[in-house]
Amino acid sequence: MSVWAILVAAGRGERLGLDQPKAFVKLGEDPLLAEPLRRLDESDWIDRIVIVAPPGWEEPAILLAEELACSKVHSCVAGGATRTDSVRAGLFEVPDDAVVVLVHDAARPLLPEAVIERVLAPLQEGWDGVVPGLAVSDTLKRVGPDGGVAETIVRDALYAVQTPQAFPADVLRRALADGADATDCAGLVEASGGRVKVVEGDPQLLKVTTTDDLAKIASWL
Ligand code: CTP
Ligand code: MG
Repeated sequence: MSVWAILVAAGRGERLGLDQPKAFVKLGEDPLLAEPLRRLDESDWIDRIVIVAPPGWEEPAILLAEELACSKVHSCVAGGATRTDSVRAGLFEVPDDAVVVLVHDAARPLLPEAVIERVLAPLQEGWDGVVPGLAVSDTLKRVGPDGGVAETIVRDALYAVQTPQAFPADVLRRALADGADATDCAGLVEASGGRVKVVEGDPQLLKVTTTDDLAKIASWL
């Protein structure tokens, strides 16, 4: 089966607040994008890669892929205003004969090969999507506008969901065609009636949101 990866890197990184898009800030010696790109390219499970770059940054992304001697990069396209629009732009590059699409946030640079394997395996059991998640360990409370606790949420069975997320290609295409929006691809598949399975994620898949996250991930490298 052919597995295509869409690496979404088109966000502006507003919460990071640096003068470049998040995918091009330095993580160690290289732009952040280099780490997840290299890991996808080296994965035994991935056949081809589409990079979704910030508008105007397609060429630097392709040059980076060449510098890293990536052999699986099919193309690089400009992203859209929302993450969903960026995934849609990437999926447009994926050919009709692709069987599985794996969508990954470039903002989660430390992508373990074992997680790629874990999200792909259950697709053979007929799931419409598979996502990595970590059981929530803190107590969760919904807080009202006055700072008062409105509700304590039963923590059992609550997971914080990460990427990479894997889908049969036709399922993801249909979910995106429905035109809904969600903060992750699984949300789109769920909205269109799909059954999504959660498998064990990895704390290393921390998403770079703030400069603290960037420093933490750099120290793990
Ligand atoms: N993303 C994207 N296109 C967008 C928005 C986000 O490709 N229009 C990607 C980001 O590049 C990132 C992932 O989706 O890899 C998760 O988004 P997030 O962490 O929110 O990154 P940013 O949107 O860049 O950050 P911020 O929200 O702080 O601006
Ligand atoms: Mg964002």
